[in-house]
Amino acid sequence: MIKIAVLVSGSGSNLQALIDANLSGQIVGVISNKPDAYALERAKKVGIQTAVIEHKQYPTREAFDALMHQQLLDWNVDLVILAGFMRILSAKFVQSWEGKMVNIHPSLLPNYKGMHTHKRVLNTGDVFHGCTVHYVTAELDAGQALAQGVVKVAHSDTEITLANRVHELEHIIYPQVVEWICTGALEHTSNGVIYRNHPMKEPVQFCKF
Ligand code: GRF
Repeated sequence: MIKIAVLVSGSGSNLQALIDANLSGQIVGVISNKPDAYALERAKKVGIQTAVIEHKQYPTREAFDALMHQQLLDWNVDLVILAGFMRILSAKFVQSWEGKMVNIHPSLLPNYKGMHTHKRVLNTGDVFHGCTVHYVTAELDAGQALAQGVVKVAHSDTEITLANRVHELEHIIYPQVVEWICTGALEHTSNGVIYRNHPMKEPVQFCKF
């Protein structure tokens, strides 16, 4: 059974979805860079061990990342899941976990990398929006996309209603991708990403209209 660590900074609704999914892998620990992240409570409630590593207490990004890296090694982690983890990771850390670290981003990547995606989508007047699960590489929000959830933007949408609909889809596609990894249906290899025995060319799409 593969061992999973989830990195969080906030509410942890994606962590909750992963817990509720009864994955074939085991969530062995949750790390937060914020001591008051509600995600920590969610983990404790179901007996998952937690670690708080406050980035503010370390002089450099590298020093903070080195501590996280050590914690992941101590837990014997095979897969790192970023779930609302609001820190940019150093190149060294990302390299150490390349092919073993995934993130979920609230946009249809490669569109709208970075912050405030819902607002930017509304300002542009896009018809579609959504979320993307992708491998993490040194370039921000740029690793191979594995799955996307697509929603239609309504004229009446506000940032909040749109964010809520995207979030609902996040809670479906993230556990699904993690389960594929846990069962070996999706693999990161030196020849690229293999999904159900074929090279993955496009992310798997989930739609909710
Ligand atoms: C989600 O919108 C996710 O796409 C982004 O951060 C948010 C985390 O939400 N990376 P939660 O803490 O899982 O509720």
